[in-house]
Parts: sequence; structure tokens; C-alpha cells
Amino acid sequence: MTEEKNPLGLKKIHHLEFFVGNAKQAEFYYRKAFGFTRAGYTGLETGNRETTSYLMRQNRVNLVFTTPLSPDHFGSEHIKTHGDGVYDIAFQVEDADHAYNEAIKRGAKSAIEPHDMTDENGTVRRAAIHTYGDTIHSFISYNNGNGHNYDGTFLPGFAATDVKGEDVGVVLVDHMVGNVELGKMNHWCDFYRDVLGFYRYITFDDEDISTEYSALMSIVMSDGGHNIKMPINEPAEGKKKSQIEEYLDYYKTPGVQHIALLCKDIVSTVEKLQANGIEFLRVPDSYYAEIPERVGEIDENIEDLKRLGILVDCDEEGYLLQIFTKPVEDRPTVFFEILQRKGCKGFGKGNFKALFVSIEEEQAKRGNL
Ligand code: FE2
Repeated sequence: MTEEKNPLGLKKIHHLEFFVGNAKQAEFYYRKAFGFTRAGYTGLETGNRETTSYLMRQNRVNLVFTTPLSPDHFGSEHIKTHGDGVYDIAFQVEDADHAYNEAIKRGAKSAIEPHDMTDENGTVRRAAIHTYGDTIHSFISYNNGNGHNYDGTFLPGFAATDVKGEDVGVVLVDHMVGNVELGKMNHWCDFYRDVLGFYRYITFDDEDISTEYSALMSIVMSDGGHNIKMPINEPAEGKKKSQIEEYLDYYKTPGVQHIALLCKDIVSTVEKLQANGIEFLRVPDSYYAEIPERVGEIDENIEDLKRLGILVDCDEEGYLLQIFTKPVEDRPTVFFEILQRKGCKGFGKGNFKALFVSIEEEQAKRGNL
């Protein structure tokens, strides 16, 4: 752990931005199926000749879906290489210039130099550094003591909109997982430690996460305040191809594997998502017979969990409920986790085995095991 706990002055996750082939249709999917409200828009109608973006908001989760309007835009290259995927994990910081300068001093590679973004609502300061693959971290500050201030709904250039989705109850981003190449997990954990001042929150080795066929290793990096948790996965040697290798084969570089959305009542959230057509991974029904012995007393009805396919795990401090979507695009890459914590600070280690057997079944169907 570095001496200084928050060297860059990170405050929280500001938003996640995806480059997608058709942002208009992504907007419809995230609104109609995931219950996000279209809270902002930038595009030709707002004077943006480069890109179209929709800001999709549900409680404290902000997802931006962007499509470049020309093949010359670098985002078109991102889509060509990766398919739809996460480009930017953006952090709100106290001072974007300080965060950027400090990150560069600590060894980060510059992506975007500090600059003003301005519209009629005021000015925001933004800069960015590179992280794994073609992913970046933006630093965004609203009021950094240099006289910048911003009254708009999100970022300059976005017109406020209010096209409501039916809220399914997701509240905030609990964690974002990155998949990196074999042998590179420690390199990227060191990057988050040295550059961002994160520390190792939990480590899982291939003993924890392996089936007969495949394995992976994972280290959860966190900021000191536990507002930003970023597990980093790498594949481990197994008899067959691991899900991380499958991801890397299709995403082509390291990148964001899944985004975990925290909710307060997972039974109600997953009921709504399933009614809306979101597809989830399922484990065998026999999994549910073992819950009382493995986890102990829980508030939820096990029949509800079984009907919906929700998984349970526990640590010394409590339990958690979780479920994973199938990939949300045609390449088997990015997916979402829906998560509820009841004291438990873990990531579902007790579910890894059952889950990976079901992921392997999906991989086998795709001819990728
Ligand atoms: Fe997760």
C-alpha cells in the first residue's frame, strides 16, 4: 500500500462510456430491458458533428453509449477491433489537473491532456490516462478551485432529456472487472497500486476458481474508501479454454469483462429484468438444496431464488445474492452482474465453481471450449 491513501483525489465512479455500433438501439435496450432513463443526449441536433451519445441513468448508475458518426473517428476503430465495449471508466476527482499530473508522475500513459469542456451551464475540467487494453480512465472535476463550475445535468455538450425507463432497482456500480492477458494480472494490480493508490482487497487463485476444465485467477483492487473496486482477472492453465481466454479471443485485447450493479431487493430486480427479456446464466437446481448448509439462514425464499436463478454466498460478516447475465452483445465479451449485499464484502467465491460449469456449457455451445 502506498503511503498516501488517495494520491489522485478520486471521489467516485462518474460514468462508464461504451463505444457501440448503434447507440440509438443500445439506448432502447438499456431503457426498455434494464430500466434506465435517458437523461442526456448529444448528437447532430445539439451541434455535435462527431458522435452521438446517450446518457442512461438509474439512481447513481450513469452509462453512456456512444456511436461515432464517421469511420475516421477513433471510436470506429474501437468498435471494429472490440465490438461493443467499455472505452472509459471515468472517475470524478477533486481536481482533474492534479489527478492527471500525479498519475503521469506515477507512471501512467497520457490519453487526453487536461482541458476545459464548456457549454451554457458552465465548465468542467477533464483529462484521461490509459489503463489495460484500449480502455481509459477519465478524470472529471466540477469545481477545482480554478474558477470552474458546472450547473448542467451531466457534462457539457449533453442536453438534458427525461425519457423514462421503468426503474428495476439498480442503485450503483459495485465493481467493474477487467480481463487481462496470461501473466499480466500482477502488472495491472501494481499499476492500480502505484498510480491510483489502490490496495489488494481480496485475492483468488486458481484453486478457488477452477473446474475440471478451466481456471482463472483474480485480484480485487480497491481504493481506500471502498468506493471503487476493480477486480483484475487473468486466465490460468486448464485442460480447456477458460472464459477469460474466450473473452480475449473476441475482445482482442484486455478490457472490461463485467459491470456489477448493486440493488436493494434482488428478487424484485431480477423478476423485472427477466420479464423484460434479459437472459441470465443458470446453475443446476441441485445448487439450491445445498444453500441452507452452505450459507445458513437467509431472509429470502429459496424457491424464489431457484425460480429466478439467483446465487447466494457468504463470508464471516454476512451473505450476498448475485446473478450474471449472458453477454449483452454478439461477441462473448461484456456482461452484467446484479448483486445485493447483506453484510458480505466478498465477490461470490462459493459460487465460482457452479457458475463456471454453466459458463463452460455456454462456451461449448459457441464452439469455444
Ligand atoms: Fe463480479
